[in-house]
Amino acid sequence: MSLFDEVLAGGDSLIKNEQALDYEFLPKILPFRESEQRYLATCLKPLFNQGSGRNVMIHGPPGIGKTAATKAVLRDLEEASDDIYVVYVNCWQHNTNFKVLYKVAEELNYKFTQNKSTTELMKVITSMCNKAAVVFVFDEVDKLEDFDFLYNLLEEIFYKSIFMITNYKSWLLELDERIKSRLVPELVEFKQYTAQETGEILKQRLDYAFPPGVWEPDALAKVQAKAAEVKDVRAGLFVMKNAAHEAESHASKKVTLAHVTTALERMDEFFTKHKEELEDDVKKILDVIQEHSGKKIGDLHKAYKKQGGKCSYKTFQRKIARLDQNRFISVEKLKGDGGNTTIVNKKITEY
Ligand SMILES: Nc1ncnc2c1ncn2[C@@H]1O[C@H](COP(=O)(O)OP(=O)(O)O)[C@@H](O)[C@H]1O
Ligand SMILES: [Mg+2]
Repeated sequence: MSLFDEVLAGGDSLIKNEQALDYEFLPKILPFRESEQRYLATCLKPLFNQGSGRNVMIHGPPGIGKTAATKAVLRDLEEASDDIYVVYVNCWQHNTNFKVLYKVAEELNYKFTQNKSTTELMKVITSMCNKAAVVFVFDEVDKLEDFDFLYNLLEEIFYKSIFMITNYKSWLLELDERIKSRLVPELVEFKQYTAQETGEILKQRLDYAFPPGVWEPDALAKVQAKAAEVKDVRAGLFVMKNAAHEAESHASKKVTLAHVTTALERMDEFFTKHKEELEDDVKKILDVIQEHSGKKIGDLHKAYKKQGGKCSYKTFQRKIARLDQNRFISVEKLKGDGGNTTIVNKKITEY
């Protein structure tokens, strides 16, 4: 049999609905986040009567449904009212005043964004939003480089709620006083799921994605255990998808424990390979972070120098920022007594 005879003989994909394994997929029902969703909905209630809603800062570790629960609320809001604008911006992708406002205008379905300046965009947005009520969601808000737009929205738009989502509660402390004093957000903490909740969420997702009987029970149990171990639903989805592809590539009609094990090994390999591609100096920096996770960036630089590191503090900061962008590490900014400090953490999960 030729290679393609074999591959094609494998028949249809095991996955019935591949989209259901995407991180962005929003299930109809989002278990274990009902009270958070209800609370968020309450904060938006005044918008229905031409009033101002409450502002909210949603925080908690990655991969535990902050984005999903918020989007579920927005989805219900869009069903409940035609008179409230819904604007969702991911600040990882849109991190400057101009980029954010451009995205906001797009979300408002404004068609003539081309060649508009930041000021012009703000004008258009103000005039549109002030004819109705609006909820703004700024996700991954700690990735923002500018905040002026936030001040402008707070000042110029009448009937609004601003939701911000971040992994770091401390981000709020960093904000300018002039913004903070206008924002006064409610804090909503998302707590980590228990192992059982993580397991149930993954099972629900599996039921969306696969026909019944495709997964052997011990294979699913392994995925659930891994996700619970790293406390991140996303990791579970990733393994699930990869294990299914592994099964398909062997023309297997079932996903077995062996497929999951291979998928997990491949993830480790992927991470190490990625690491090997980094330049030596960056690897040294990663090792220092591994050893001194949770320390201030200045102290890390000292430790790095002690271990023979050559680059200046400025360059070191730049490299740290890059590692953060590529999600090798996570960086948290805190306001301390003597000004701002940056805390550098290793990632708990390596995938
Ligand atoms: N309660 C839940 N029910 C169903 N899926 C969930 C739930 N919580 C998280 N997920 C899924 O887990 C993944 C990670 O959630 P996400 O909202 O992106 O995390 P966060 O924004 O906290 O980093 C997403 O694919 C999301 O759909
Ligand atoms: Mg998120």
